[in-house]
Amino acid sequence: MNKKVLVTGGTGYIGSHTVVQLLAANYSVVILDNLCNSSREVLNRIELLSGKKVDFVEGDIRNRDVLQTTFQLHGIDSVIHFAGLKAVGESQTQPLMYYDNNVNGSVILLEEMAKANIKTIVFSSSATVYGDPGYSQYKEDTPVAPINVYGRTKLMVEDIIKDLKNSDASWRAALLRYFNPVGAHASGQMGENPSGIPNNLMPFVAQVAVGKREKLSVYGNDYNTPDGTGKRDYIHVEDLAAGHLAALKVLENQSELLTLNLGTGKPNSVLEMIHAFEKASGKKINYEIVARRSGDLAEYYADPTLAEKVLGWQAQLGIDRMCEDTWRWQMNNPNGY
Ligand code: NAD
Ligand code: UD1
Repeated sequence: MNKKVLVTGGTGYIGSHTVVQLLAANYSVVILDNLCNSSREVLNRIELLSGKKVDFVEGDIRNRDVLQTTFQLHGIDSVIHFAGLKAVGESQTQPLMYYDNNVNGSVILLEEMAKANIKTIVFSSSATVYGDPGYSQYKEDTPVAPINVYGRTKLMVEDIIKDLKNSDASWRAALLRYFNPVGAHASGQMGENPSGIPNNLMPFVAQVAVGKREKLSVYGNDYNTPDGTGKRDYIHVEDLAAGHLAALKVLENQSELLTLNLGTGKPNSVLEMIHAFEKASGKKINYEIVARRSGDLAEYYADPTLAEKVLGWQAQLGIDRMCEDTWRWQMNNPNGY
């Protein structure tokens, strides 16, 4: 029998890529998503790319009835938990919405999992849990001290899962701290679909390249980096998705709680990303240098060696592929899904 995975937030950006890889690896998949930040069209794309139909439940992780019915109907073995809100700025102005969705939602999910005796979870955490430790390469034992509400919700859920594991050793959990996910499926059929004006660099650059936005604002060129612009650890979404499958496999065979960075360990600057995108797209990216964005650091990136060791996983794709795939997605779908 194929193992059955519930993917919360499975029609979202990272979830959808992970679902396609799970199906290719012969897992059965059920997606639970309330579509607050994704589109039903994603289900057609998943079917197109995988040649398989995926079970979809439109619903909220805070709805116990939905969770109970889903667990009863589908015989779920494990959960990959992507569902959540992720806009840092919005989290500062709407903190209760973020605590309710990300923290309360995760508590309800965990409670219902426990009742249904489903005790394996892979959780989407974030490098934002680290805050500003005063240096730029983060290991998993770098002190955690998030500087925004979003990061605090991620750290709270990490702590909740750790406490749960301490109380009941039969839980199996992986807390995956992503750095900066970018890129798209190589087919150009699936990618990131931000609503409104993108907050993040890559979707903004892609929209400038395709002519939807006039120019990029580069937030500061006076950082202590070689070209003065901020440096980040961009990781291809396909590598990230593969990290989830690797974590799930490891949890099938051992019960240690895993806390792992998922990054490449190789940071790139804003200007390097712009130039890579220009090369990939053949388009000029108009930009202007503006003031620094509040809350931004000069540079941070993963030390990914623990994930490499524990998961036998390593990010494979560099920034050229990240930009080529983003461009293919953007060109094929100028208005998203
Ligand atoms: P996304 O917004 O594309 O996907 C999240 C999905 O969850 C969406 O489809 C949304 O509709 C759904 N959702 C949200 N709240 C829900 C709820 N209460 N019930 C059911 N569904 C709900 O985001 P993403 O980029 O794919 O991120 C996935 C996860 O990874 C999130 O938890 C995010 O915080 C985390 N993460 C993302 C990044 C990033 O830069 N993209 C970085 C670090 C961590
Ligand atoms: C942001 C979030 C972080 C989240 C991550 C996911 C903040 C403070 N942090 O990180 O919590 O996990 O996204 O990918 O929002 N830049 C520009 N112009 C733009 C957009 C970005 O110059 O229009 C620069 C930024 O200053 C930064 C780099 O590009 O140096 C990357 O920015 P972004 O994609 O927003 O990611 P982070 O700020 O690293």
